[in-house]
Amino acid sequence: MQSKNVVLRDVLEADLPTFYEHQLDTEAAQMAEFPSRDWASFMAHWKKVMSDPSNILKTILVDGQVAGNIVSWAQAGEREIGYWLGRECWGKGIATAALTEFLALVKTRPLYGYIAKHNAASRRVLEKCGFAVCREDREEIVLVLGAN
Ligand SMILES: CC(C)(COP(=O)(O)OP(=O)(O)OC[C@H]1O[C@@H](n2cnc3c(N)ncnc32)[C@H](O)[C@@H]1OP(=O)(O)O)[C@@H](O)C(=O)NCCC(=O)NCCS
Repeated sequence: MQSKNVVLRDVLEADLPTFYEHQLDTEAAQMAEFPSRDWASFMAHWKKVMSDPSNILKTILVDGQVAGNIVSWAQAGEREIGYWLGRECWGKGIATAALTEFLALVKTRPLYGYIAKHNAASRRVLEKCGFAVCREDREEIVLVLGAN
């Protein structure tokens, strides 16, 4: 199902407590293969990323409520993307809708997505938006959009 009420806007500090709760979710952390941070390290991380103008940081709103975030940053000469939704929002097409909107805003290509091998949902989101596998190792798969 494609959600019709998915809107992106710049991340506000007021969104951070919701993102903090999302990343505490153990099932989500296992899916992403990303360890949950405590409040101090979470806030230090977001303070750092919010102070770097090369980062593109969007909050995903569904019916006006904060559902998660979708972000892009430069690393080792590549532009990467990542996203995270609160569990109550999973399975409704929201990540696919948010990434579709994000790709219309952020025109840089190639764009890379790194996923844990077992993260079938995230792989599907990327593939539905046109990303294709470009490399993999034992734990991780890298998908790219717009590579020659
Ligand atoms: C990964 C995540 C963003 C997916 O969000 P979502 O809004 O549920 O994704 P969508 O509803 O847009 O689903 C996209 C596709 O994945 C499929 N999918 C969803 N959950 C799945 C699962 N557990 N296993 C396999 N496929 C799954 C959907 O069926 C859909 O495919 P379809 O249209 O062919 O049916 C969300 O689960 C999440 O935030 N997880 C925790 C953090 C995370 O893993 N972030 C990504 C790090 S790379």
